[in-house]
Amino acid sequence: MKISRRLFLVGGTAVTAIVLGDLNKPRRSWAQASSVNLYSSRHYDTDDALYDSFQSGRVNLIEAGASELIERIKSEGSNSPADLLLTVDAGNLWQADQDGLFAPVDSEILKQRIPANLRHPEGHWFGFSKRARVIYYNRDRVNPAELSTYEDLAAPKWEGRVLIRSSSNIYNQSLVASMIAAEGLDAAEAWAEGIVANFARQPEGNDTAQIQACAAGLGDVAIANSYYFARLAKSDDPADQAVVEKVGIFFPNQRRNQRGTHVNISGGGVLANAPNRDAAIAFLEHLTSDQSQTYFAEGNNEYPVVEGVELDPVLTSFGQFREDELSVEEYGKNQAAAIQLMDRVGWP
Ligand SMILES: [Fe+2]
Repeated sequence: MKISRRLFLVGGTAVTAIVLGDLNKPRRSWAQASSVNLYSSRHYDTDDALYDSFQSGRVNLIEAGASELIERIKSEGSNSPADLLLTVDAGNLWQADQDGLFAPVDSEILKQRIPANLRHPEGHWFGFSKRARVIYYNRDRVNPAELSTYEDLAAPKWEGRVLIRSSSNIYNQSLVASMIAAEGLDAAEAWAEGIVANFARQPEGNDTAQIQACAAGLGDVAIANSYYFARLAKSDDPADQAVVEKVGIFFPNQRRNQRGTHVNISGGGVLANAPNRDAAIAFLEHLTSDQSQTYFAEGNNEYPVVEGVELDPVLTSFGQFREDELSVEEYGKNQAAAIQLMDRVGWP
């Protein structure tokens, strides 16, 4: 057993110690590694296989929400035992980096395995899986031939028909940030204004709630991440199966002159005060092996970042699509502008 897991209780009796690994265990020659202390906002069954297959050392895990982990790392300061932070959304990773949490990593393996647009240019953080932010449509009300781009959902024909969650959600902030990068601030603002005008209802609920509302006919189209639909598709619950039957998935911006579907990442980086920096780098490299990529992506029904790794059959059933290849770092850089413009147009 190479995993020790501690749940970080916010405001409660927090972790008192991290169990250190067996320093005498055999190591692989390419990395001088032992234990690695991982702070993660992930909590998936397949992650255990990910840690078990790490031959170079033992993984000590602390799980909590992203903001709790970030606050904890900050408050621990130079005494932090944390080597690595794993969380979701390039916007979150960028923000953690702005707070000075990450240290640069120069690894040929990471550079070769992870496409350049899915990692920080100086190695402060790396994407290990991808999620697409896509359009869902009610099959009874919308012919998919009517769908084309994110931009089109701001057109008058969609008035009263668009379901999307609030602007406080980082997935929407990153989507709008990508639009600012692609089309400029004014065009992004005009788009957001059109989306607000086309709301089927005031934003409420998470991404799953948008898909469910679309199935229930509360709106005709919804914007939500791909893994929520995969999760519903894999569910045994008849209510979830009914949603999946009612709703179709559509990858926008696919035509030749269009930029591709917006993708975001789950990822992480080595922390500035990492006590076990070599082991931490070895662990990140481990996450890019074909087998780890399968586990990592499967945990949350995401897409692997490494080319050629086999997809989950449910994701395969969604069909192939072309991705927007914009550097995900832009989501962070344009985050403040995105929040301000959504505020200006009255996106709650
Ligand atoms: Fe999510």
